[in-house]
Amino acid sequence: MSTQDEHDRASRQDRLIEHSYDGIQEYDNPMPRWWLLTFAGTIIFSAIYLMNIGPVGNGKGREKDYEDDMKAFAAAHPAPSGGKRSAAALLAMVDDREALHEGQETYSAYCASCHRMDGGGLIGPNLTDAVWLHGGLITDVYNTVANGVLEKGMPAWNKLLKPEELEQVVAYVASLQGSNPPNPKAPQGTPVTP
Ligand code: HEC
Repeated sequence: MSTQDEHDRASRQDRLIEHSYDGIQEYDNPMPRWWLLTFAGTIIFSAIYLMNIGPVGNGKGREKDYEDDMKAFAAAHPAPSGGKRSAAALLAMVDDREALHEGQETYSAYCASCHRMDGGGLIGPNLTDAVWLHGGLITDVYNTVANGVLEKGMPAWNKLLKPEELEQVVAYVASLQGSNPPNPKAPQGTPVTP
């Protein structure tokens, strides 16, 4: 390498800039090409992005997107109160074999793990006796099942079951009253006269 070449290289690279801050000096090296291309790419991308999304472009924007998603979700999962039945309607379901059958399916899938298949109680209380922690009227049972007792480990089922599944499983629980399964869990709560 000639001294001229070396001089050229040295003048292109590792050229110290005159100024010095607190005794620190910097080189005036150009950014590498790949970096400059990436940088330019992000600028071009941001322009395209703005055209599509947000207040500038013709997209809906994040907030509107979010609200639309939430609306679609709400439409697919109606609030449980929307499907809430009167005590009479719930009691009528207890005599409806079809509803009880559906309720039993839901019960065995979601409830039996904690309340036992026969309702005798395990992690959760016995559901077959007339002693209740949260009230024994069918509407009380509905509210307990719908809203859960989260701090005690009873999930809120209104988020997880469809409104009719919720009603059916409540009717099924009511149908277990007085079934006296073997080895039940000791009564918890206060007796409720039916
Ligand atoms: C993860 C365990 C668990 C599952 C699953 C579960 N429960 Fe419970 N459940 C509990 C516990 C624990 C309690 C007691 C809450 C308390 O101590 O206040 C309870 C309480 C109840 C009560 C109130 C009992 C009373 O004495 O007032 C009802 C009714 C009930 N569950 C029904 C259901 C139904 C119906 C399902 C299924 C859809 C279900 N549970 C699923 C744990 C569970």
